[in-house]
Amino acid sequence: MNRIFSGVQPTGNLHLGNYLGAIRNWVKLQDRFECIYCIVDMHAITVWQDPAQLRAQTREVAAAFLAAGIDADRHIVFNQSQVPAHAQLAWVFNCVARIGWLNRMTQFKEKAGKDRENASAGLYVYPNLMAADILAYKATHVPVGEDQKQHLELARDIAQKFNNDYEVDFFPLPEPQILGTATRVMSLRDGAKKMSKSDPSDYSRINMTDDADTVALKIRKAKTDPNPLPGPEVLRADGTVDPGAESARPEAFNLLGIYAALADKPARAVLDEFAGQEFSAFKRALTDLAVATLGEMGGEMKRLLAEPGHVDSVLRQGAERARAIAGPIMAEVEDIVGYLRP
Ligand code: TYM
Repeated sequence: MNRIFSGVQPTGNLHLGNYLGAIRNWVKLQDRFECIYCIVDMHAITVWQDPAQLRAQTREVAAAFLAAGIDADRHIVFNQSQVPAHAQLAWVFNCVARIGWLNRMTQFKEKAGKDRENASAGLYVYPNLMAADILAYKATHVPVGEDQKQHLELARDIAQKFNNDYEVDFFPLPEPQILGTATRVMSLRDGAKKMSKSDPSDYSRINMTDDADTVALKIRKAKTDPNPLPGPEVLRADGTVDPGAESARPEAFNLLGIYAALADKPARAVLDEFAGQEFSAFKRALTDLAVATLGEMGGEMKRLLAEPGHVDSVLRQGAERARAIAGPIMAEVEDIVGYLRP
């Protein structure tokens, strides 16, 4: 059976990267898979979170999922902490994963920065918890942005080692699904940095809750270069942008990628349409498109957040259904590893 699992941290403003790289793809996958979408509050606390803020942001992410078109009746939407199997399986995986594997994780190095000694132990074992999220449901497919690829490779290694160590064919090896033309949306201020919730400059990202004026201002101020837009000659035979062309003009191609993703068109169609035009005209078209998509979602999010009782009941029911799937899988894991269940 095919089952999707994916998650978002409730750690700040959801932005266009989260939407185009992940959530929008999740919506599309709903017709083909059984889907479990999670707000990963346990991952969030690997760095300090103000408790009241964490609660508010958990509701906000849930509202964003619903506003984007996730159907919480047909699929499962819940917050991670409410299903004990995540922590229980993560402990088993702390004992399966090797320190050498974790030492290779680039995201830990980026997040811990120079002051590694002072990072939480949770941040270090973060990828083990992520593997537990996925495998507690025996999920087979995991739609994410490009930045999560290394963590998913680790999840596959953990599943494989567990199966080998205990001589079972228990966990599937989950497949990453890195979909669409915006798998790595970059900062609007610096085409070498990915768009991120933690960038101190709000001008670096478009938030899912930004109003039309803010979106327009951020796109107008987005860094570009003095040249007009390129044409389809920058594409390779498979329709993707030539990496050499892209690295020479990262900001320009980032905006083109965002446009293509929002318009749901291949890069070629966008290049055909805008080749040779000035960025000022392209930015106006991009603003209209972004405002049309985000405006509707932002409005729906605000409406949902005005009645948090509804969001809470979606999360409560989601957690109940998630526990019903993960509980029996975790019980089997306990038998496999030899926990006595008296
Ligand atoms: P998080 O909260 O950082 O991001 C949520 C999703 O958004 C994608 N994303 C992006 N995609 C394109 N361009 C960007 N600039 C960009 N920034 C973020 C991420 O790839 C992700 O898909 N560790 C995960 C959450 C997680 C998870 C899981 C995901 C926990 N357990 C199990 C999948 C399966 C994270 O921090 O995502």
